[in-house]
Amino acid sequence: MGKARGNGVWSWRCRWSVVSIAAIALVVYNAVANMWLLHPPSCPVHTTPPPTDPPTCEPCIDTVPNAALDDDPISRIDLRLGRWDGSRSYKLFDNAVVGDTYSEVSSNYHVCLATQSSIERLHELLRTAAHWTGPISVAVLVAGEELRLLRGFTTWLFRCQPEIYSRIALHVTIPAARPATHGTMPAWARDCETPPLPPEDAITWKVRHPYPQNHMRNLARKNCHTPYVFLVDVDIVPSKGMADALDKFLATTPKCPLCAYVVPTYELDQRVAKFPANKSEIVRLSKRKLAIPFHRKVFIYNQYASNFSRWEASGGNETSETHISHDVTNFELLYEPFYVAPDTVPAHDERFLGYGFTRNSQVYEMFLNGYQFKVLSPIFTVHWGLQARTNRPLWRERQNEKNRKHFETFKRELFARYRKDPLHLLRRPQQKKT
Ligand SMILES: *[C@@H]1O[C@H](CO)[C@@H](O)[C@H](O)[C@H]1NC(C)=O
Ligand SMILES: *[C@@H]1O[C@H](CO)[C@@H](O)[C@H](O)[C@H]1NC(C)=O
Ligand SMILES: *[C@@H]1O[C@H](CO)[C@@H](O)[C@H](O)[C@H]1NC(C)=O
Repeated sequence: MGKARGNGVWSWRCRWSVVSIAAIALVVYNAVANMWLLHPPSCPVHTTPPPTDPPTCEPCIDTVPNAALDDDPISRIDLRLGRWDGSRSYKLFDNAVVGDTYSEVSSNYHVCLATQSSIERLHELLRTAAHWTGPISVAVLVAGEELRLLRGFTTWLFRCQPEIYSRIALHVTIPAARPATHGTMPAWARDCETPPLPPEDAITWKVRHPYPQNHMRNLARKNCHTPYVFLVDVDIVPSKGMADALDKFLATTPKCPLCAYVVPTYELDQRVAKFPANKSEIVRLSKRKLAIPFHRKVFIYNQYASNFSRWEASGGNETSETHISHDVTNFELLYEPFYVAPDTVPAHDERFLGYGFTRNSQVYEMFLNGYQFKVLSPIFTVHWGLQARTNRPLWRERQNEKNRKHFETFKRELFARYRKDPLHLLRRPQQKKT
């Protein structure tokens, strides 16, 4: 009995000590584990070539091998979220796709190229990106089924043009009237032999729903992180090396908060086989009428005030650094150059929807604000294809008419804000068409 009791005491003591050792061990283990979690081993320093060993610490993104990088970020957009515009008609998704060097390239360059597109013209971005080596912020409108085409495009870009993909931040706009749906990945998305396909009939619904140009411009602009922004339409191609040329120019130019640097835009005849290599080349084409100032035939006010004859005569050839050719001295209403400026310029008024008065209304406000437009040389931009004056479709006329009416309100609002009317707009209703 005593023995049994003694045994009992012994085993009780023994158990106690086993339990307490286990408990102490557990406490120590916990403490060590906690310390390890709070201070994990530091990430291996990024070396070239990158380490081939498997990653040893969880949260170090840059040790994840390339194959594991996300090639389909669009599929993970939560379509129930997004940021509403002022009229609650569009949902905006900032940074839906961001290339892995976008932020780094943004801190290395002075200028970010901002642009916007509907899905069927998005492939034109590739031409722009081939000439522009800086960061690119692009807003894309997608509706209904089109989202799967955007998935296809970004996946294609990731796999087939990784250098371009890495410098891009892509933002998405979805109309509330035509909510988007994730669809299946198109087969062409993983085939680098084929260019990314434009969809067949994406245009049809756009006859009834205006393209929200100014929403898109603001979305692209506001996601640039460089000191200056160059906002262009997606079919406007910069001359080669422009990002570096602008970098040199802006680094040595005194700060000028109310300066907008205009880059002249030419339309180029389709028969011209090669992109003009330099200014002498575009001047030569202009003399032969194979290049003309953008919109000269369709809408002369568009670039007229930039004074192309003066630009062409001002010399400055491929060997000269980018410089100011001349100031715009005859500003006129409906002037709408493409310009480089800090993104403190006025926003694009989002009440203008579809075509007409979308860009020139913003440029007009800059003029009232006191901006001086300065034309740069020898850099330029190109729109492939001469534009002919044709009858515009009825839907486009309707959008223009609606915007013309809104412009009447807009110019009165600006007068109330700036208390000046240098072009005497308040005396007459707006009749010129855009
Ligand atoms: C300008 O471009 C043309 C056409 O490519 C070329 O022949 C010419 O040599 C270029 N000029 C210079 C100075 O590079
Ligand atoms: C263009 O510049 C020339 C001088 O080089 C000047 O005579 C002309 O008035 C200017 N035109 C415009 C529209 O500014
Ligand atoms: C290019 O411009 C520089 C100065 O702007 C000039 O000295 C040079 O002669 C020009 N070259 C050509 C080929 O026109």
